[in-house]
Amino acid sequence: MYKVAVFVGSLRRESINLQFAKALAKLGASKFTFHFVELGDVPLYNEDLWVDPPASVLRLKQDIADADAVLFVTPEYNRSIPAVIKNVVDWGTRPHGQNSWSGKPASIVGASPGNVGTAVAQAQLRSILVPLGLLLLGRPEVYFTMKPDLIDENHDIIPDSTRKFLQGYLDKFESWIAKVA
Ligand SMILES: Cc1cc2nc3c(=O)[nH]c(=O)nc-3n(C[C@H](O)[C@H](O)[C@H](O)COP(=O)(O)O)c2cc1C
Repeated sequence: MYKVAVFVGSLRRESINLQFAKALAKLGASKFTFHFVELGDVPLYNEDLWVDPPASVLRLKQDIADADAVLFVTPEYNRSIPAVIKNVVDWGTRPHGQNSWSGKPASIVGASPGNVGTAVAQAQLRSILVPLGLLLLGRPEVYFTMKPDLIDENHDIIPDSTRKFLQGYLDKFESWIAKVA
């Protein structure tokens, strides 16, 4: 059973990325414990704050340290990643020499309401994370297009084909963690 720190890049209550992340957590419950990391109270990155680090920043660093792997579930904002994701990525790399991300198995997925999906955001996030030493699962890529009746109110994925695809994705993620951890 792997402990996965989940970073959902949307703070809104009805976030489709949060719904998608919860569906993945339920589908993968036999393999993973998903810990949803709180991003909303982490201040904007400011080097000065390290003198007396905010509790939210220390908690963030601890959440990463405690995890066997990390999962980013990101929306796409203006053909990029949301600021909340970049902000916690930056905090995790500091203080200098204490990069929390280094060596962590990781994966990126994302949900959007449209067909274009989160491909650009995911590609950008990938290019940010690789130099930080995260060990990213390459495939399958998951660009989830949220439609009514794909995920029910209990976080179950309704269509068999979608559930099977996502189960296959979670199996690959588990194998990847076992391989590189
Ligand atoms: C500031 C902003 C910029 C957006 N830019 C994009 C975009 O570039 N590509 C895209 O597919 N959707 C874009 N969207 C639409 C989001 O995909 C949509 O709002 C989605 O529901 C956000 O994820 P969430 O439901 O998890 O909050 C944007 C939304 C916002 C709020």
